[in-house]
Amino acid sequence: MNNLHVAIIMDGNGRWANARGLPRVAGHRTGADAVRRTVEAAPGLGVSVLTLYAFSADNWRRPAREVSALMKLLSHYLIRETDRCIENGVRLQAIGRRDRLPAALVSLLEDAERRTALGSKLHLRLAIDYSSRQAILDAVRRDRAVTEEAFSKSLGPDVDLLIRTSGEQRLSDFLLWECAYAEMVFTRRMWPDFSEDDLSAAIEEYHRRDRRFGAVAAEKTLRTA
Ligand code: IPE
Ligand code: IPE
Ligand code: MG
Repeated sequence: MNNLHVAIIMDGNGRWANARGLPRVAGHRTGADAVRRTVEAAPGLGVSVLTLYAFSADNWRRPAREVSALMKLLSHYLIRETDRCIENGVRLQAIGRRDRLPAALVSLLEDAERRTALGSKLHLRLAIDYSSRQAILDAVRRDRAVTEEAFSKSLGPDVDLLIRTSGEQRLSDFLLWECAYAEMVFTRRMWPDFSEDDLSAAIEEYHRRDRRFGAVAAEKTLRTA
């Protein structure tokens, strides 16, 4: 029941803001509160690894103003939350490219990674300038002898539950390999409104599912034995 890897595509900030006549960045700002709520709720719901899609490699295609607002929000999040991560036993790690990020953000990320390194309650992975295809290519290039096991280790843990908010039902280049057997939950909730109850409901839904990994269901095995 415990030690779940939950990955979330935090989507719908722009639509949330539009629906309220606010600029898109207001959605991103409110989305940061949903990140804090989710990180705080996760350990109590049996989640040990939480991977949040914060900025995709394709998000550079957005208007420069929105991109720079997102970079600033990420920096502010780290400034505000790193101490709280330490107090709560959260180990923070960024996945994705770093060479295109603002230098100030990279040093905040490195500082947060260093200072939270001993956290053992939750491994929080923030995907920033992340592309799963790129991560797979990097892993192939890094490891000469590619075995499935070594490759999986190099990329990161398999996802148990993938959640995407805002009603969209696609992966958008997120954890393609790691989601091979992930259970998927798509919710219409816009990310800024995502709550502990939504996370809990998705995890309950996950526990109701029968993960067969290509084999037959447990009951059926009994019946045919
Ligand atoms: C998710 O919300 C946040 C990022 C992708 C950075 P969006 O900004 O994609 O919101 P919508 O999809 O336009 O509503
Ligand atoms: C995916 O959302 C990236 C993040 C949530 C950070 P997008 O909103 O960018 O994805 P598409 O364009 O709808 O596929
Ligand atoms: Mg979107």
